[in-house]
Amino acid sequence: MAKPDRFLIAGVMGWPVLHSRSPKIHNYWFARYGLAGTYLPLAIRADGLAAALRALAPLGFAGCNLTIPHKEAAVAIVDRVDPLARRIGAINCVVVAPDGTLDGRNDDGFGYVESILEAQPEWRADAGPIVVVGAGGGARAVLVALADRGAREIRLINRTPGRAQALAKEFGGPIRPIAWDERHAALAGAAMLVNATNQGMAGELDLDLALDRLPATALVSDIVYIPRETPLLAAARRRGNRTVNGLGMLLNQARPAFAAWFGMMPEVTPELRAMIEATI
Ligand SMILES: NC(=O)c1ccc[n+]([C@@H]2O[C@H](COP(=O)([O-])OP(=O)(O)OC[C@H]3O[C@@H](n4cnc5c(N)ncnc54)[C@H](OP(=O)(O)O)[C@@H]3O)[C@@H](O)[C@H]2O)c1
Repeated sequence: MAKPDRFLIAGVMGWPVLHSRSPKIHNYWFARYGLAGTYLPLAIRADGLAAALRALAPLGFAGCNLTIPHKEAAVAIVDRVDPLARRIGAINCVVVAPDGTLDGRNDDGFGYVESILEAQPEWRADAGPIVVVGAGGGARAVLVALADRGAREIRLINRTPGRAQALAKEFGGPIRPIAWDERHAALAGAAMLVNATNQGMAGELDLDLALDRLPATALVSDIVYIPRETPLLAAARRRGNRTVNGLGMLLNQARPAFAAWFGMMPEVTPELRAMIEATI
């Protein structure tokens, strides 16, 4: 990439926002690739989101990421929403177009699939049944990504069954809702298990799921990244399953955002991973 003749600016809008690892990730890339730029945490309340997004262009921002609680609300604010983000129902990245209008996109599903391929390059979504636990925002991105990668059967389990049923109806395709009480038995014959709930996150309860029926060959992934190894992943590792934590999803979703803003696809280097791991 030719060195740009302007200072590059992006940021992340959230409330709260100071916990976000995104500034560390993007500022690492500015330094690594010798680019003059900065990425800022922007503490924006829900009622200030529209005004803050409209201020991106006049302030010279290339765009921003969105985190809690803005991902869904932004869909109604930006000028264009790409089809993938529309299906997920949430935007995690806004790009300021040359004319100052705003494009919304969602790179969480890309980040998720990349994190799995990083750990298991031979992984295929159509290798066998996939069990996904959770029906919130993270689960929506994972489900769309798995379906788009050719998953043939996704057993969707959620504590509040109506949400799993509604998602299965909305997304259709390979997604089959399974009752919460059936969750342990639903692991039989699975090629992959994904925790897309907040259970196992620091400060939350462990995911209440017995792994006895899960084949030892199954891949177990958790989108939670604090702690690095959730109790679910520790239990899976102890019984011989391959595991992938949520850090790769976080790191990899940032790559296409940086590319959309600044014209180059950055790499998740071991140094970057270690730097972010050190903050967890
Ligand atoms: N690695 C990444 O890049 C990445 C990206 C996105 C999210 N995440 C992480 O993923 C987790 C979920 O985020 P989210 O945005 O999807 O949250 P969310 O929209 O609030 O959804 C929370 C999910 O957890 C379930 N849940 C909550 N308490 C539960 C309990 N006691 N027992 C069983 N299920 C329970 C909810 O079930 P109900 O429907 O029954 O309430 C729902 O399915 C968070 O830890 C977040 O940090 C990571």
